[in-house]
Amino acid sequence: MKKLLTTILSLGVAASAALAAEPAITAVKVANVNDAAAWSKAKFQTITLYPQTAIEFNDKKANELTANAKAKKAEVAALHDGKNIALMVKWADKTRDLQQCTSSDNYSDGFAVQFAGATKKAQPLPYIGMGSNGRPVVVHLQKATPKVYEPNGNKNVAYQINRQQTGVFGKELADFDAKVASLANTDYEKVFVGEGFRTLTEIKDGSAKSNATMTFSPAGWNATLVRPLKDAYVNLNGTVPVSVAVWDGSKMGRNGLKNLSAWVAINLEGQKANAAMVSELTTDPKGDAAKGKEAAMMNGCNGCHQVEATDPKSFMGPALTNVGGYSTAAYLRESILNPSAVVVPGYNRNAHANTPWYNIENGKRVSTMTDYSFLDKETVDNIVAYLKSLKAEVE
Ligand code: HEC
Repeated sequence: MKKLLTTILSLGVAASAALAAEPAITAVKVANVNDAAAWSKAKFQTITLYPQTAIEFNDKKANELTANAKAKKAEVAALHDGKNIALMVKWADKTRDLQQCTSSDNYSDGFAVQFAGATKKAQPLPYIGMGSNGRPVVVHLQKATPKVYEPNGNKNVAYQINRQQTGVFGKELADFDAKVASLANTDYEKVFVGEGFRTLTEIKDGSAKSNATMTFSPAGWNATLVRPLKDAYVNLNGTVPVSVAVWDGSKMGRNGLKNLSAWVAINLEGQKANAAMVSELTTDPKGDAAKGKEAAMMNGCNGCHQVEATDPKSFMGPALTNVGGYSTAAYLRESILNPSAVVVPGYNRNAHANTPWYNIENGKRVSTMTDYSFLDKETVDNIVAYLKSLKAEVE
């Protein structure tokens, strides 16, 4: 078993030169993941986070700031102690943007870690953008926050009281600041469960325990997340598929305006890895990308999609310019053969006014994309290899 895995892993590394699938990360077994010294054992791996460009935003300024967004590198390491898993994510960011409530177009830096939930059988993995129907995810979201006085105790900093609006001066203000400091909630940490964009609900009943931190230095952010291996939402064992997202507040990043990794495999040291999952996430598809490009043109994909970043924007379907960066080959194959299996969420009526992305039939969303299940296997393999090559360069 070990030998097989090593072979798969080294194949993954060899192939990474061509299309750069992410190699698996080892969650090193330690005595206690909450012991800061345990991180000295961690093995960092570089992963790439691609700008999520599928959906056009209704914000002109933000669209301009992110128009030519590049991919970002992040260093990721994991630990586990049999009870909890801990992740550390480091990425470069020049500015420390905090969640403020003084203006409405101020956005914070942040990070999220997504776990595939309730997956007894791992495949098919949930849609990377917050899950999909029948394929749930759990998302841990952390934003960079200053000290804010948040009177309701529910961590909802949208309703904080801020110093500038209190109308108090001198000693009164000093007293107020002291009170704020004593009550301050310095944390914006939330956990969501969802089966797709609109279904995302915050878990508030304490059944999802986790702890996330973000520390800034001139090199950028260093973020950690600790959560149980097993709770009401996930049962992580063997190989854990994880996806990481980061937001850059200085680029007005929020919601879908972010950089997102593909599903990355984390192998829990000392447990039997899921060889099929590791292989799916670390090996590049076999097809011929150049032939795939021809086939994509011949089959009119670019009639509805902006395919390469240099193509004019087509506002019918989602832009595919980074789809290869954050999608698995299995997902891309499914998108071609069975478009309705996952209907890309977040359809923006304003940006894609010409044609909706789906119709409702019997209460279900049915994709308006052409069904290409008539294509032969080789052509599909080639198109998948081509789609996997679509991604922004690293900044
Ligand atoms: C008639 C217009 C149309 C054509 C032609 C078309 N698509 Fe699509 N495609 C869509 C729409 C609309 C969606 C969004 C709804 C959905 O998820 O099915 C979509 C979604 C996708 C997605 C998922 C994107 C994401 O962000 O996850 C992929 C991948 C994709 N198409 C690939 C292709 C390929 C490859 C071809 C050509 C073989 C193609 N499409 C041809 C309209 C089209």
